Amino acid sequence: MTQRILTPNGHYRELDEALRDLGVTRLLLVCDGAWEHLDIRHWAEELRDVTVTFFRDFQPNPRYESVAAGVRCFREADAQAIFAAGGGSAMDVAKCIKLFCRMDAGRNYLDQPIVPNDVPLIAMPTTAGTGSEATRYAVIYRDGEKQSVTHDSIVPSVVLMDPSALRMLPPYQRKATMLDALCHAVESCWSVHSTDESRTYAREAISLVTAHMPGYLANAEEGNAGMLRAANTAGKAINITQTTAGHAMCYKLTSLYGLAHGHAAALCNRALFPWMLAHPERCTDPRGPEHLQAALRDIASAMSCEAPEQAADKLDRLVRDLGLSVPSPAPEDFDTLVRSVNPVRLKNFPMRLGEDDITALYHRILRA
Ligand SMILES: [Fe+2]
Repeated sequence: MTQRILTPNGHYRELDEALRDLGVTRLLLVCDGAWEHLDIRHWAEELRDVTVTFFRDFQPNPRYESVAAGVRCFREADAQAIFAAGGGSAMDVAKCIKLFCRMDAGRNYLDQPIVPNDVPLIAMPTTAGTGSEATRYAVIYRDGEKQSVTHDSIVPSVVLMDPSALRMLPPYQRKATMLDALCHAVESCWSVHSTDESRTYAREAISLVTAHMPGYLANAEEGNAGMLRAANTAGKAINITQTTAGHAMCYKLTSLYGLAHGHAAALCNRALFPWMLAHPERCTDPRGPEHLQAALRDIASAMSCEAPEQAADKLDRLVRDLGLSVPSPAPEDFDTLVRSVNPVRLKNFPMRLGEDDITALYHRILRA
């Protein structure tokens, strides 16, 4: 499916047109706390031909019950389309409302077979990181357990890339979300599921991050616009390949030490990249070691480096130059960390990683 990308230039006329084209007069707007600071709220306040119903009754790491309440809200408003404006959690909630909104309300939606519908889903990311607006994945929590929801029909058909939405991002979140996008692209490039199409997206995303980083970090409009494109393109890459060891290993760093997700993923990948270069004999990609080496060279050239070794150094330097801290682990943390690694994501990594390797990598990640 091709995604229609809208780029507002100080106005939202393209969005008006998109709603007209879709025949939408009743809209469910799913948004988080960022909404009060967004320029687009004026657009919503001044809408005349479209009735907007807000749904914002959800928390980060959204619970199933919140999604079910969103589905009720969608039905009571008799909405014809869903507009998600926010970070990853707003996207997750909106995607699940879209997926469940025509299903049987008498049973848990997660236990029912998925029946795709044609309710339009429009997404406006307020960070340049997750790329969730380009993927078929959503995560919600059921009875405290993380539950992944995956379906092609939840990829938003329209994306509004509004650089003004990034203006208020706090510096740490700005850096961490950018690193999340970069890690998505890098991991996608070396994933065992990579295809010509995903590699093209991944290379482009890495180039976009590299090119727009200075402007984005300076909070310039052009840089913010470029980083939104980068994150979206990296999202398209992982929509095909999924993420790999960097993401498999990073989640516990967030819950143990309170690091932002992109910060944690970057710490993992800056240890993994040189490890991969030092252990070419560990390649498990069925296409062979030469294929993997070509992927690593692709990453290097997209980062404007001559060789993968330089790209690994550049990633290391980037994390240091951004001033991102490395937590101090307690000795018993390593067991917890090794046990936390997501085995499903680890399978997408193109090299054999045993428990000893993972332990050694966590020592490198935490510089212990
Ligand atoms: Fe991520």
